[in-house]
Amino acid sequence: MALRTIVSRKTLAALGSGLRAEARLAASRGLVTFSLPDLPYDYGALEPAISAEIMQLHHQKHHQTYVTNYNKALEQLEDAMAKGDALAVVKLQSAIKFNGGGHINHSIFWKNLSPIREGGGEPPKGSLGWAIDTDLGSMEALVQRMNAEGAALQGSGWVWLGLDKDFKKLVVETTANQDPLVTKGANLVPLIGIDVWEHAYYLQYKNVKPDYLKNIWKVINWKYASEVYEKECH
Ligand SMILES: [Fe+2]
Repeated sequence: MALRTIVSRKTLAALGSGLRAEARLAASRGLVTFSLPDLPYDYGALEPAISAEIMQLHHQKHHQTYVTNYNKALEQLEDAMAKGDALAVVKLQSAIKFNGGGHINHSIFWKNLSPIREGGGEPPKGSLGWAIDTDLGSMEALVQRMNAEGAALQGSGWVWLGLDKDFKKLVVETTANQDPLVTKGANLVPLIGIDVWEHAYYLQYKNVKPDYLKNIWKVINWKYASEVYEKECH
């Protein structure tokens, strides 16, 4: 995740007026801003499962908007905290959760996908494969369950394969809007997250969400999911 240290306008003004203590504090906190990560493949590389047009819009417009609005909300939060404005701090929480969640979820989503020629869709080998059989029945049962839960999700949201770190057990969960998986439990780590917002499929699949869910498995990056699983389990 690319981070860039920034100094706010307020901090600069304070620095100019003689380095007030709070300005030094703000600068020393190393306030950060977030930026859009590059995709690890071309926009057209996931075709025919996901069209280049969807990938480009999804990345350049939707994800970028979450990043922009997250940074804006964090800057406003910093101002509200500096002013001791308790009401403004509370009011900003929903924008931070929504846009920060959008940035976090999409950053995972791009890594969850891979072109077929680079191994996309190849079922996991090793310990994650065994865990899927043990905890969720089989790969077929997992796909069926995530597709059913994704299709049944009302409104916009995500369907996840996660790892419960405490019990070392795989779980299937859904989250609404842009809520990250961690909102369902601090011990949950996302392995695979599937975006079931209409913006993820409508241009290509129209209203047929089940076809999108069926085809996305052809480009799921199980290598990435396995790496996260191994790291968190050992
Ligand atoms: Fe999305």
